[in-house]
Amino acid sequence: IRIPTPENDPIRAYAPGSEERASLKARIEELAASPTEVPCIIGGEEVFTGNVHEMRSPHDHSLVLGHYHAAGPDEVRRAIEAANDAWQSWSRTAWVDRASIFLRGADLLTGAKWRDTLNASTMLLQSKTVFQAEIDAACELVDFWRFNCHFAEGIYAEQPLSAPGMWNRSEYRPLEGFVYAVSPFNFTSIGGNLSGAPAMMGNTVLWKPSNTAVLSNYFVMRLMEAAGLPAGVINFIPGDPVEVTDVVLASPDFAGLHFTGSTHVFQMFWERIGKNISQYRSYPRIVGETGGKDFIVAHPSADPDALRTAMIRGAFEFQGQKCSAASRAYVPRSVWDRMKDGLIEQTRSIAMGDPADFRNFMGAVIDEKSFKKLAGYLERAKEAEGVEILAGGGCDDSKGWFVEPTLILADDPRYETMCEELFGPVLTIHVYEDGEWEAVLELCDSTSPYALTGAVFSDDREAARQAMDALRHAAGNFYINDKPTGAVVGQQPFGGSRASGTNDKAGSPMNLLRWVSARSIKETF
Ligand code: ALA
Repeated sequence: IRIPTPENDPIRAYAPGSEERASLKARIEELAASPTEVPCIIGGEEVFTGNVHEMRSPHDHSLVLGHYHAAGPDEVRRAIEAANDAWQSWSRTAWVDRASIFLRGADLLTGAKWRDTLNASTMLLQSKTVFQAEIDAACELVDFWRFNCHFAEGIYAEQPLSAPGMWNRSEYRPLEGFVYAVSPFNFTSIGGNLSGAPAMMGNTVLWKPSNTAVLSNYFVMRLMEAAGLPAGVINFIPGDPVEVTDVVLASPDFAGLHFTGSTHVFQMFWERIGKNISQYRSYPRIVGETGGKDFIVAHPSADPDALRTAMIRGAFEFQGQKCSAASRAYVPRSVWDRMKDGLIEQTRSIAMGDPADFRNFMGAVIDEKSFKKLAGYLERAKEAEGVEILAGGGCDDSKGWFVEPTLILADDPRYETMCEELFGPVLTIHVYEDGEWEAVLELCDSTSPYALTGAVFSDDREAARQAMDALRHAAGNFYINDKPTGAVVGQQPFGGSRASGTNDKAGSPMNLLRWVSARSIKETF
């Protein structure tokens, strides 16, 4: 049996006047007009806990998209039971039967009904533009599910040597227990992969989505059910992170963590798991993708136009709220002199506002906490010596959580916005003297504790090679003459090391292997 060879799902254009655009707009209007009541989904049942929380749009304080019902300790315990019950049959279900569910889910998502629903909810509650929603909630999720099936086929086919009179086998068993998937707000597809990848490999899952992205994640859960996912295989439990996690990590059946979020939270989880280690049946698999302080480093031979485009797109798409977003740049003076004016002008011309009007390049940042954090950095930058705000710098919360796309010039390459993760539309630039190429590579490598993505711009092959070598451990995804964002499933497996995560490459066999525990079988004839 072979899985159909996957191809990356094509991006739809949603051109003005197109049927695609009309259909998506209609779904946006529908979701905005009729608030959604989101239950927990435990063992295939809707659970309305009564502990309700509002889902409010980041770009429009007056737009309430509905409420979600938060899971408390009782619901989490029920979800563990449901996952354990479902495990009995799901862990023995043939992998092709599991794959057919995810392949069907991907196919459903190529049709307008589900695609519009996922894109519209991602635009409304996560403030993504149509292009950012389409490459995430539609294309990347389709790709994750299709490519995971394809990678799983390769894993199950991988077998050891045998000899006459002996048959050796590898049996790729699911983990003995459930996996806890904790997903972020910034990519709808990540929720579908953090829960879906372990499930593809025969595990059952408790899925806690980010409280600021519940709507789109709920529809992802519904889509998996529509594709035929049996009850209890994935249990959807939005809720207070501490309350939910306390119960989950106290269970002896906890067998793995699949996490994307902040470094700080991931480290707390790890400590907690370490403290509880003797009570688990198996050593839990811990897979996490955490923060980043992603860089662009330009050589004097860099093309200023390509560099400018990469800085704008890398730093400001989705308001800089990608773990991969370019947030620090090192530019040689000769290139800077040629690009500075164009960069400032283009940054100032960025259209920001309601993503649902399809013309804006940026929406709002996700919530008040993020807005205040960014406002604090911008206020301090205005006062700091040797620091200049070249464009943007303003924040406006009168209608939504809007932060202007901002360029900061910092004399000190260790100024706070050059080192710390801001998670917003702020790019800090340090201009270096042309002769200091090797020193700037060393600086780039040592400035932040993270190692997620990075890019070098150079027309000089030898300089690009030097950068690849000097920055070997500074980024898990490294780009030559391209922005450091936009990894495509099946093309650039994604993840970083150091404080950025365990680098178990989402969208690759390396990730799926973490969700199986192999048994070696020797049979003698
Ligand atoms: N995978 C996303 C990107 O590469 C985060 O931008």
